[in-house]
Parts: sequence; C-alpha cells; structure tokens
Amino acid sequence: MFVVVGVSGGIAAYKTVQVVRALVTNGHEVHVVPTENSLRFVGTATWEAISRHPVTTSVHDDVAEVRHVALGTQADLVIVAPATANTLAKMAAGISDNLLGVTLLATTAPVVVAPAMHTAMWDHAATQANIATLRSRGVHIVGPADGLLTGGDSGPGRMVEPDEIVAAALAAAGAPASDLAELRVAVSTGGTREPIDPVRFLGNRSSGKQGVAVALAAADRGAYVHLVAAHVDDGVLDRALHHPRIAVERAVTAVEMDAAMRAASTEADVVVMAAAVADFSVPEVSDVKIRKEDGTVTLDLVENPDVLIGLVRARHPGQTIVGFAAETAADDAELRERGIRKRARKGVDLLAVNRVGWQEGFETAENRVLFVDATDEVASQASGTKRVVADALWDAVLRLR
Ligand SMILES: Cc1cc2nc3c(=O)[nH]c(=O)nc-3n(C[C@H](O)[C@H](O)[C@H](O)COP(=O)(O)O)c2cc1C
Repeated sequence: MFVVVGVSGGIAAYKTVQVVRALVTNGHEVHVVPTENSLRFVGTATWEAISRHPVTTSVHDDVAEVRHVALGTQADLVIVAPATANTLAKMAAGISDNLLGVTLLATTAPVVVAPAMHTAMWDHAATQANIATLRSRGVHIVGPADGLLTGGDSGPGRMVEPDEIVAAALAAAGAPASDLAELRVAVSTGGTREPIDPVRFLGNRSSGKQGVAVALAAADRGAYVHLVAAHVDDGVLDRALHHPRIAVERAVTAVEMDAAMRAASTEADVVVMAAAVADFSVPEVSDVKIRKEDGTVTLDLVENPDVLIGLVRARHPGQTIVGFAAETAADDAELRERGIRKRARKGVDLLAVNRVGWQEGFETAENRVLFVDATDEVASQASGTKRVVADALWDAVLRLR
C-alpha cells in the first residue's frame, strides 16, 4: 500500500519512527509528511532514512511533480501520529497551509489519527468539538491512552503504542489479514529467452507483472517468497527487490528456470508457475553473430523441459502447485474447455487461465482469469488489476489447503 504518515509537533513523534518502520518492514511504500514544528522533535534525516523517500514539509518543493496533490491522491491510507491539538483543529477547519494539510484535503483514502497532548488540552471543548467533527467525517481516531504524560502528571492524552496504531490503520484500510503468515512460497515470473547467437534470442511478450503481483500479494499477506524472475519489463521488479519477505533470483532460459524452480520448490508449501517459459530452444547456439550474408537461415528447435510437469512429478506431500495458462480462445466457453484439459494434462491443483491476444493479457496492467481446480470446475474467477487477480489466486489457494 501507498501510506502517508503525517507527523505533528509533539514529543510522541519519536514513537512514530516505529510506526513507519513497521509499515516499511511489511512492504508498504511509506511517505512521511512532517509539520515544520515536528522537525524540532524528530528531524528529516530520520524520516528519510527510515522511509527511504525524500521528506519535505512544504508545498513549494517538487512543484513540477504537483507533490502537494500527488501524495494525497496516491495514498491508500493516511496516518497522522502524533496529532497535536493544533493539527486536529486545522484538520477540522480544513486549513491547508502546509504539505500535511493539503495532503489531507486532497485524499479520499481512509485517515487514521492518533492524538497526543496534555489531558487539559484533550479535555478542552475546542479539541472535543474538533474530534467530533473529524469522527463525523469518517476519520478514525485511535486513542489517546490514559497514562503518564511528559510533564510527569497523568491522564488521557498519551499517544497509543506504535503497534496499536499500525493495526488500527491497516484495519481501516481494509488490508487483508496475515492469512498466509509463515507459508513458504516459490513463484516464477517473466518470459524466458532462448539464445540464437550472442545478440539474438527467442522470447515472448510476458512483462512479468502478473507473477510479481502474485509474489507481492503473498508477501504482503505474510508469506516468505522465493521469486524466480526471467526477463521482466523495466521497473516491474522494483518493489519485490525491496520487500523484506521476498528473495529474488534471476533465470534467463527455460533450462535455468527449470533448475531454479526445482530447487526453490523443495522448500515451498505452495508453488506458482507464472513465468512464460519457452517451449523450444535452439540446440546449436552460434558463437558469432549470424550475418545477413549467410543468406537464408534455418533454425532447428528442440523441445524444452516442461517445468510445470517436472514440478508436479517432484511434488512433496501437502504441497500445492498452481500453473498459469495463457490461451487464445474465441470465447469464454472455449477458454474454459482449454483450461480444464490443460489442468488435467499438467496435474496441477489449480490452473489460472487467461485469454491472450494481440490486445489482451500481455504487458497490460489489467487481467481476467478463470481458476480451474482438480474437480475440473471453474472454482472462481477474477478480473481487474493484476494485484486483484493475485489476491484472488491466494484466496483460491487458501480454499484448497
Ligand atoms: C516539548 C513540547 C512538547 C509538546 N507536546 C505537544 C503534544 O504532545 N501535543 C500537542 O498538541 N502539542 C504539543 N506541543 C505544542 C505544539 O508543538 C504546538 O502547538 C505546535 O504549534 C504544533 O504545531 P503542529 O501541529 O503544526 O505540529 C508541545 C510543545 C513542546 C515545546
């Protein structure tokens, strides 16, 4: 998720470092937006290092990127912790004289606020009226807790602990539970490339987006993922490379993919073959570039190992194996029939079947998939972004296990 964490000027700002750290560790993209006053408590260097993104308080930085609106519109979740009495009042009034205020007005994402202040400030009618206003607009208020305050006295006003803020925020954003926690998963993605000579190869149009989405969805839901990536489009692997629960390995050819996935699968509870593996390769790879002067060129092709069938043969007890099939089909009925036949031939527990064509399936951000299980029925289907399809795949796997 794209999470904005607003920080205002209270001592509890030091605890928000833990909130940001927990979110980053769980694979979320976190952007910290401090108020100017809060930088007296925790400075920019800490936020930038811990969130791994540049930090500013001002609407006048990065103007070309329209940062003042971009953060709010991109956010899936906004957290304000600590929320001072002043920042709560500004939120209630819709004041936008800093980057945090503008971001809060520009967003339609769930907003979760963790107030922190002295009890007298919290109890004041102005603060209570502001809290009531924010609640009536759907803002989630977490805390404050009752306890020891900075001045030595005690009462309601303490910011709740970081893990409580994270849990409340993820629940407000409807983040899926950690329902794949501790599961070990091997996923392949991308398109293999079979060399012809030092500069040419046989390849396919796979961008790697769907397989990477499957890996990210699993990791975001708590699984440990071994991702074997063949060729993928630029930038597609970026989030996976930084995810604390994803280990990325590269494999170029079908033979390399076969070896890498066999090794990864020995430890895996679930194996998902989303890579587009070349069916054929060139047995005699030329050491020198084949030249035009050579006239007509005939390429002999030999069949590659069927990686999926190999994995099914080596399956260990309790392991769930999922395949992907990209099919050209005239309509849904034909797609379904092809899917059912292919599921049986490959022997997988679940086959994700998607229709491909010149305009469909490859390189796009969206996908539409039928899931065929061992009862030879379409168990479920999904359409939408590749992440939506990936989450539906894991839901289907959980139903099987
Ligand atoms: C040491 C210190 C601690 C403070 N702690 C709080 C606090 O916990 N809650 C609060 O509402 N204000 C607190 N303040 C006052 C705010 O920093 C002040 O109201 C400021 O204007 C808030 O600005 P901001 O909301 O833009 O960050 C504190 C001030 C100081 C000097």
